[in-house]
Amino acid sequence: MPNYLNTLNQEEISRRRTFGIISHPDAGKTTLTEKILLFGGAIQTAGAVKMNKITKTATSDFMEIEKQRGISVATSVMGFEYEGFKINILDTPGHKDFAEDTYRTLTAVDSVILVVDCVKGVEEQTRKLMEVCRMRHTPVIIFINKLDREGIDPFDLLHNIEQELSINTRPLTWPIGMGAGFKGVYNLYSKQLQLFTANMTRISEDVYSIENLDSPELDKRVGAGSADHLRKDVELIESAYEQFDQELYSEGYLAPVFFGSAINTFGVKELLDTFISIAPAPQPRFTAVREVRPEENEFTGFVFKIHANIDPKHRDRIAFCRIVSGRFERNKFYYHTRLDKKLRFSSPTSFMANEKNIVEEAFPGDVVGLYDTGNFKIGDTLTEGEMMAFKGIPSFSPEIFKELINKDPFKTKQLEKGVRQLSDEGVAQLFIRQPGNVKIIGTVGELQFEVIQFRLLHEYSASCIFQPLRLYKAFWVSSKDKAQLNKFLSINAQHITLDKDDRPVFMAESEWHFKVTKEVYPALVFHITSEYKIS
Ligand code: G4P
Repeated sequence: MPNYLNTLNQEEISRRRTFGIISHPDAGKTTLTEKILLFGGAIQTAGAVKMNKITKTATSDFMEIEKQRGISVATSVMGFEYEGFKINILDTPGHKDFAEDTYRTLTAVDSVILVVDCVKGVEEQTRKLMEVCRMRHTPVIIFINKLDREGIDPFDLLHNIEQELSINTRPLTWPIGMGAGFKGVYNLYSKQLQLFTANMTRISEDVYSIENLDSPELDKRVGAGSADHLRKDVELIESAYEQFDQELYSEGYLAPVFFGSAINTFGVKELLDTFISIAPAPQPRFTAVREVRPEENEFTGFVFKIHANIDPKHRDRIAFCRIVSGRFERNKFYYHTRLDKKLRFSSPTSFMANEKNIVEEAFPGDVVGLYDTGNFKIGDTLTEGEMMAFKGIPSFSPEIFKELINKDPFKTKQLEKGVRQLSDEGVAQLFIRQPGNVKIIGTVGELQFEVIQFRLLHEYSASCIFQPLRLYKAFWVSSKDKAQLNKFLSINAQHITLDKDDRPVFMAESEWHFKVTKEVYPALVFHITSEYKIS
């Protein structure tokens, strides 16, 4: 049985909040992140995070993106102190081609803030990211942004979110007007009216306590027409929505909703203040053997992201390790469970917005950057000696598949090594088909192919080309019926590959191919992610 920590560490744990901000590109994630950091005093000027954003113009130039990603190591984790809390924001690249990075980062957070553009409503990337949150029951707070623009009616927006994202919502604030007629928001719980002024860089002081909406004070502040509109809206909200339920939020079933305008710093402080009071402290994580709780005495953690520097002069990699339990200490030996080896870290790094610092200790919820010379794969576990591996870093089926063809037979070994290492880093997924050791690379975006080609050449002196494959999706297969599984694998050998952990994967050529195969083999289970229980 695990030992439990003393109260000092309990305090450190309970004051930590580790979360990610997710959105479809352009909804306002970068702007909101920046405003939150400004409140926390973590940055002094707006624009500091924006600098690190992967810009739209860079979409076809991966070197440019890599350059920007180089800078963005500093914003991979943005830690800061706010009202006695230690807040860690984990950056999730909005760029579609880096979606896998975002999915993995979501395994290292305890909650998320989802930004929705009030003009556009729910968009494609939002749907995918929410699927990952739902799988993990991650608590979600929704921030509806850009109220200074004429957008979709707020009731329709909430309906749209509930339908599209399969989550219940509960507004905690409510907007008065929109676009040019945006007057501000009314907080349904603190019963405060906050008036909107454009171009604010500070917290609005135009706040009035209005306990009773029938009060003439409301008419005086927002005008009779808007006041009546708000009264009707609030009546409808109170009859149509249940009260906010903390437990349902914590279990990922109910999302509280805020309205605001990030660029105008409007509604951001309320969001942040509610966030620290309702968002969960560091949560337990599961291994195949047992649940690991943050309060446990011994240190454990897992690697969810590896950042390689493509600059040949600085060939270092940083493995980002989320601390799950105990206390991490610099220069102490920890047990790398996959390699069955002890490792010591002399310069673990913490990230405070734009700064990197060497840390002496870190606590559950924190993320430390570990300089790595090739020991780590995504999903690796560190402990103080206990043999276990954290679950929850699944691979999802890629969307684009290409066969990797070696162009230089004298460099076969280098190519093999390079492609394995790049797949360990999570740049792309590698599937091997026999006979012939055919390498199929799967990604969510075209960019990764350019990245692989460039890095194989520059880091491993191996040259390759890619041949597009017409594949629909990759499905991990399992079955309790071993005989049927083996029969399936041998009859369909030309469609079967092995993933990086040697698990069988069925490469369906089309939706129809998948459907028919499923019907022919009812005893098989086809999984859309690499993480599944044998069934
Ligand atoms: P992202 O990280 O989700 O991709 O979005 P980002 O914050 O970069 O915001 C996308 C665009 O939306 C930016 O404009 C930003 O200024 C704008 N924006 C963010 N919040 C608001 C808001 O509350 N109201 C309005 N009207 N716009 C908002 P851009 O033109 O793409 O960039 P920039 O030239 O302003 O930097």
